[in-house]
Amino acid sequence: ALISMRQLLDHAAEYQYGVPAFNVNNLEQMRAIMEAADQTDSPVIVQASAGARKYAGAPFLRHLILAAIEEFPHIPVVMHQDHGTSPSVCQRSIQLGFSSVMMDGSLGEDGKTPTDYDYNVRVTRQTVDMAHACGVSVEGELGCLGSLETGMAGEEDGIGAEGKLDHTQMLTDPEEAADFVKRTHVDALAIAIGTSHGAYKFTKPPTGDTLAIERIKQIHARIPDTHLVMHGSSSVPQDWLKIINDNGGKLNETYGVPVEEIVEGIKHGVRKVNIDTDLRLASTGSIRRFMAQNPAEFDPRKYLKESVKAMKDICVARYESFGTAGNA
Ligand code: G3H
Ligand code: 13P
Ligand code: NA
Ligand code: ZN
Repeated sequence: ALISMRQLLDHAAEYQYGVPAFNVNNLEQMRAIMEAADQTDSPVIVQASAGARKYAGAPFLRHLILAAIEEFPHIPVVMHQDHGTSPSVCQRSIQLGFSSVMMDGSLGEDGKTPTDYDYNVRVTRQTVDMAHACGVSVEGELGCLGSLETGMAGEEDGIGAEGKLDHTQMLTDPEEAADFVKRTHVDALAIAIGTSHGAYKFTKPPTGDTLAIERIKQIHARIPDTHLVMHGSSSVPQDWLKIINDNGGKLNETYGVPVEEIVEGIKHGVRKVNIDTDLRLASTGSIRRFMAQNPAEFDPRKYLKESVKAMKDICVARYESFGTAGNA
């Protein structure tokens, strides 16, 4: 069944778990997410970016998600629009039937230029007024996502501030967060706590302080009824990096956010955990390996089946680690 983000995250807060929000662009990702949710009895958040709409086309994406709901009627599904760059983008998604939208007013309509606070409040409030009238939830964003180690937003082909950021921009201010929620009435708030989008988050292996966990605690203490969202939450599995590079790939050394640190964040109010890159890596690694091992095979279903399995394994692992399993 299609449910709103507010319904799902209120349940998650009551029962103290987190929900991975996986980006979806195609049938294989959708199947992987739903089969994993079915196997672990987990509620689902699937999110579509502007890039996903461009790739698959909005009607195909919409029907992909509706097909998932039809095939798995016992699983609650939130259909979320990721990184909306204006109220009108959010409005179109609401009209398409999304049950949740993100108005990312931390960046301008180009998805690159950091905005001022009043602009962010204005466009977010406007989106909330429109969305709540339709029973649709809203996620806002305050602060600029960026790796505390590199100072970069790590944007690939989507959303991210241009140039090097300073630490004050990259950590959401708790007092400002409280004011923002009071003025916009968002259901969920994406906070900047040291993560960045994409595969290249950190150049060195994690030492336990990847996330600004104290900052998460301070923000949660100020806005306990607002669900916190962590973007850039891929863990960048080293085994998949190796499989990619062992089979003709060329990825540089890189590290992501350790699952244990995400689990610590969930103890302090993080409810929605955005993951895209990990499924991309698993998909690419499994296909590269299959191609290398089966050079005579040319039925796409053969290698795409491998990609579904690889992505499904990641989804199952996250549903279990975040405590989502058993809550459908
Ligand atoms: O926000 C970034 C997500 O990973 C979506 O990426 O814009 O390439 O679809 P995308
Ligand atoms: P990753 O690139 O870490 O998977 O983050 C995805 C994300 O935040 C989508 O909004
Ligand atoms: Na989002
Ligand atoms: Zn994001």
